[in-house]
Amino acid sequence: MGFMAWSSKFELGIPEMDEQHKKWLEILNSFYDHLSDKDLTTQMKGLIQDVIDYTQYHFSEEEKLMASIGYHELNQQKQMHKEITDKIIRFKQRLDAGNLVISTAVTSELKSWFKEHIMVEDKKYAEKYFQVTQKGGI
Ligand SMILES: [Fe+2]
Ligand SMILES: [Fe+2]
Repeated sequence: MGFMAWSSKFELGIPEMDEQHKKWLEILNSFYDHLSDKDLTTQMKGLIQDVIDYTQYHFSEEEKLMASIGYHELNQQKQMHKEITDKIIRFKQRLDAGNLVISTAVTSELKSWFKEHIMVEDKKYAEKYFQVTQKGGI
């Protein structure tokens, strides 16, 4: 759990989104564990690709859910999702080029992004989700 441990404060109360956030965090953790080994093998490059793939999968599922409830900040969320995805992709390009120097800065930025995005932005659409679906929430 080198990157971050799951915490109940990340829970939105929407089961499929909570599952995806957990899975995403697991993938980030496996990537991070190898990164601290300064391991530039094919395996690690595969792990950053896993991070990219799952990040894109989660964002696309989440954007569909937000669209389905008519969430008014969908475009802002899309923009935030795109910015962080682009950053991770650029990070992979640097890793592919053999550069690990910037890794700490990138991972700490990713950590705060993950925490703040889920706890602030994702919680906002969750509120709307509960209003629209009349489900309980947390
Ligand atoms: Fe999001
Ligand atoms: Fe999310």
